[in-house]
Amino acid sequence: MKGILPKSIRWKIGLPILLFGVVAGLGTGFYTYKTEVDNAVYITEERVKVAITFSDSSREYVRGTLRPLIFDLLGRAKGCVQEDFILEAQSSSFFTASIFNMVNEKTPDFRLRQVAYNPINPKNRPTPEEAHIINFMRANNQKEYVGVVEMNGQRHFVHAFGKVADAGCMRCHSTREAMPKSLIAKYNPQYDPNWKVGELVGAVMVSVPFEAIILKAQLDGLLSGLAVFSVFLLMSLFVVVALNILVFKPVEELQRKAEEIAKGNVDEPIEVKSQDEIGKLAESFERMRVSIKKVMDLLK
Ligand code: HEC
Repeated sequence: MKGILPKSIRWKIGLPILLFGVVAGLGTGFYTYKTEVDNAVYITEERVKVAITFSDSSREYVRGTLRPLIFDLLGRAKGCVQEDFILEAQSSSFFTASIFNMVNEKTPDFRLRQVAYNPINPKNRPTPEEAHIINFMRANNQKEYVGVVEMNGQRHFVHAFGKVADAGCMRCHSTREAMPKSLIAKYNPQYDPNWKVGELVGAVMVSVPFEAIILKAQLDGLLSGLAVFSVFLLMSLFVVVALNILVFKPVEELQRKAEEIAKGNVDEPIEVKSQDEIGKLAESFERMRVSIKKVMDLLK
């Protein structure tokens, strides 16, 4: 143990400061990294919530306002019957899907998906990862899933809301026979969706790539860790340089002078260069040299 401890006072002081700097730098770096990630997750969560609230509200609006209004209008319009179904204005699923597509085009990072087994639109067939999330919600009887999922080799932050079929969904999601003609005309489904009431059939999912968020957090953590470490590095450099100028150099010079005196060279005076402790020591050395010189002159 004794062998590895530094012998020089410079390092006895400088090294602990440096070590402390490493620890403080690592601590700050990690703390910054963690806060960045937590913050990013929080902000993403908030964005997801807003997106979902928008989508749910537009669904509600179509169902509660637009659909009955158009139904009414169809009844009164010439050449139309109320059984005609205007997908674009009366289907909340279609409406949401159209909005999602627009959002996805405008913000490619922020992906909104509405997926289900046996989908009307084949594009909405769950990917293996999405199917995994739906199955997880089914198995655990959950209506919500939040997590980080790897998709296309990239980590994504995913928030999914399970969709449970109710009787109202059956008009379009049960058999082809029951579907409105306009739906058949648009999608020409090749099979019956066969959803069952009460079954968790699919989900609305929002996903945001997580890699960029992590990368930024790592970079920020690294930078603030380095900044703190640099402060300690500069501090220890300052201490070492200051000790060198104020203490070690003068002490070494005094030691050399004392050596000369020991050899009997007592003629060279010792300069006093400062008023501090070292200066006082030099003064005492000088007095000692003068006394020895006097004794030696007497002995001659
Ligand atoms: C009036 C017809 C209609 C009704 C009723 C309806 N949907 Fe849909 N739904 C559609 C259409 C059309 C699509 C395809 C939209 C697209 O192109 O992405 C769709 C798609 C979906 C999808 C994506 C998977 C797929 O099949 O393409 C989900 C999930 C969904 N609907 C949930 C529901 C739920 C839950 C209900 C009941 C609360 C419901 N829908 C009621 C017409 C309907």
